[in-house]
Amino acid sequence: MKYLSTRRRHPAAKPLILVLALFLVGAVYALVIPSSQVSAAPGLSQQVQEGKALFQVSCSSCHGLNGEGTSQGPSLVGVGAASVDFQMGTGRMPMARPGQQAPRKDSEFSPEEISAISSYVATLGPGPGIPAASVVDPSKLTDEELARGGDLFKTNCSACHNVSGQGGALPNGKYAPPLTGVQPVHIYEAMRIGPQQMPVFSKNVITDEDATQIIGYLETVQNRNPGGGLSLGNLGPVTEGLWAWVVGIGGLVVIATWIASKGARSK
Ligand code: HEC
Ligand code: HEC
Repeated sequence: MKYLSTRRRHPAAKPLILVLALFLVGAVYALVIPSSQVSAAPGLSQQVQEGKALFQVSCSSCHGLNGEGTSQGPSLVGVGAASVDFQMGTGRMPMARPGQQAPRKDSEFSPEEISAISSYVATLGPGPGIPAASVVDPSKLTDEELARGGDLFKTNCSACHNVSGQGGALPNGKYAPPLTGVQPVHIYEAMRIGPQQMPVFSKNVITDEDATQIIGYLETVQNRNPGGGLSLGNLGPVTEGLWAWVVGIGGLVVIATWIASKGARSK
């Protein structure tokens, strides 16, 4: 049987099978490899293309048609998706007019538009990326971890932003903004990109864990004072000093009057 079956095969069968096999490998290669290269290649995804189009409408007047920068705005090559997400998410960009420091405001762009422009700018050169949601979620932190976040904040950030994150003035009319109401993702991104005079805090200095704890601390500080007229709101030394003065001196006056009236009675 075995002998017969081999004999029945055509003499050209073996080479033919080989050729067929090679052909198949070639076809599979042609199908699989280039397509995976396409999805990995920058500049070709639809999101990136949309981002580029939006960029050229809203940002290129200052940052150049290809993000190379102009006299009105810096080059965005290598600033990373995190920088765009931060600048647009906090409403700083697009800047209304060239100025010293773009203020925080509500963004006119949708999250989809921001992420499209972020993906486009990320293709210009490697830079810090947007963090995963779990990294910026402080909800599972223990009290000790929150306290550690407070220590980290006091060591690294309070010099400019004040111990409770209320912000402060910097030389030359610039300022470190208050950190109340800033989204966790933007707190993370600010540390990684260091906008304006703020230093960059790399993962070697502030690990992702540290970052989550700092975010947790800032949320705690923010929720501690429920706002409204009753809280002093950490408004600073003037108001707090004024209150200390009013309550303190007022209290002394009351006590003095009380002692005086007692003294008068005992005479
Ligand atoms: C009117 C000019 C102007 C326009 C329009 C503008 N920018 Fe900017 N942009 C600036 C200037 C000036 C700076 C540097 C000052 C600063 O960082 O606050 C800057 C900084 C940035 C940075 C930070 C760069 C870095 O080195 O980290 C990013 C990211 C950015 N812009 C993105 C955008 C995007 C995206 C748009 C469009 C949606 C845009 N900008 C529109 C002027 C502009
Ligand atoms: C040397 C001063 C300095 C230090 C230290 C500093 N920052 Fe900043 N920070 C700034 C300045 C200045 C800005 C405003 C940048 C701008 O307007 O583009 C800023 C902006 C921010 C913002 C954006 C707030 C907003 O309005 O959207 C966050 C969040 C932030 N800093 C967090 C931190 C954290 C967390 C630390 C410590 C790990 C820190 N900063 C340390 C100066 C500083």
